[in-house]
Amino acid sequence: MVRDVQVGIIGGGLMGRETAAALNRWAALQDHPVRPRLAAVCDVDPDVLPWFERIETVRLLSTDYRDLLGDDRLEVLYIAVPHHLHEELYLAAIEAGKDFLGEKPFGIDLPAAERILAALRGRGDLFVRCSSEMPYFPGALAAARLIGSGAIGRVIEANAAFLHSSDLDPTKPINWKRQAALCGRIGVMGDLGMHALHLPFKLGWRPSRVYALLQDLVAERPGPDGSSVPCDTIENATLVGTVDAADGPFPLTVEVKRIAPGDMNTWRIRAVGMAGGVEFSTARPKTVRRFAVRDGDQVWEHVETGSQSAFPTVTGAIFEFGFSDAVLQMWAAFLAERAGALDEAFPCATPEEALAAHRIFDAALRSARSQAAEPVP
Ligand SMILES: NC(=O)c1ccc[n+]([C@@H]2O[C@H](COP(=O)([O-])OP(=O)(O)OC[C@H]3O[C@@H](n4cnc5c(N)ncnc54)[C@H](O)[C@@H]3O)[C@@H](O)[C@H]2O)c1
Repeated sequence: MVRDVQVGIIGGGLMGRETAAALNRWAALQDHPVRPRLAAVCDVDPDVLPWFERIETVRLLSTDYRDLLGDDRLEVLYIAVPHHLHEELYLAAIEAGKDFLGEKPFGIDLPAAERILAALRGRGDLFVRCSSEMPYFPGALAAARLIGSGAIGRVIEANAAFLHSSDLDPTKPINWKRQAALCGRIGVMGDLGMHALHLPFKLGWRPSRVYALLQDLVAERPGPDGSSVPCDTIENATLVGTVDAADGPFPLTVEVKRIAPGDMNTWRIRAVGMAGGVEFSTARPKTVRRFAVRDGDQVWEHVETGSQSAFPTVTGAIFEFGFSDAVLQMWAAFLAERAGALDEAFPCATPEEALAAHRIFDAALRSARSQAAEPVP
């Protein structure tokens, strides 16, 4: 029997609206044990709230998140606020006994993430996950299956990347994501790092050491009145990690960049091993590249993946998959796992993985100072 679950959103900005739209497209899923109903939305900015009136199931709009925490009919929260507020809001949600999908990076820095994880310890009654949707692209899942099967043999090297280019324009106005006090000293790693690390983590790849090159490429941007204000975040981060696999260590390169000319939200995974290889990039969302040696020839071949992801949808199998489909799939995984019905589907990132990502970002900050590889505890 399908069970209704009331959902509340805290933070009705870019991702709050994206999630509202995804939940409203739930009928696209062929079969799911849960039916989410967006019931409440909170944003401190009252001008953000009227947009959500278009969703018939919304019964509460508020500028105070405590109204949602105190609402017993809300079972699940989605929290998507600037990074300096993660700790306060996630701790409050835990204290109120709410299950939630929290946006990455789960705290502005490592100590904040540690405090969130400490609060979760002993709260086995709560179901909490970290938002990270990109591995739900069918090509990413196909790459994960191939690597997980062991078919590529001993891994020689792997690369995970998430690349943006919107910050190439130096006249783009400042916002909270470009200010260390609000976004964190980890800068772009806090924005894009969890996305790049989610799939490697699920494959069991955890770097024990990291060497990092961090670039602050734009020092100032126009502020609200047009005059220049400091833009004190790292735009680009290139990390070379050592993964100590059972059959030998290999380099895992993680690239997260806000200034990667030509790449617009390009998420990529690539791994080559002694017996094969695989590469998927959202720049070519329908195509997985596979490497094999056939009759002595070294062959990279293209496999078309189509639209079907972890949870089957009504979308024709030959059609293209996109970002909003990935968000829907992540929610399907979150609510299925919460209901104990994930089966073989790809799971959402866990709070423990969000903490592990912070440990890597922290090692990267240390490495940028020491200009040497730093251990990841
Ligand atoms: N999963 C993804 O692909 C993805 C993409 C972009 C951003 N994010 C993450 O989502 C989170 C939010 O990013 P965004 O792009 O939606 O930002 P945004 O600036 O568009 O929206 C944030 C919203 O939070 C509101 N807000 C601020 N303080 C609040 C409070 N105390 N209570 C309630 N609302 C409050 C703001 O008014 C704003 O509307 C961040 O953690 C970011 O890293 C994730």
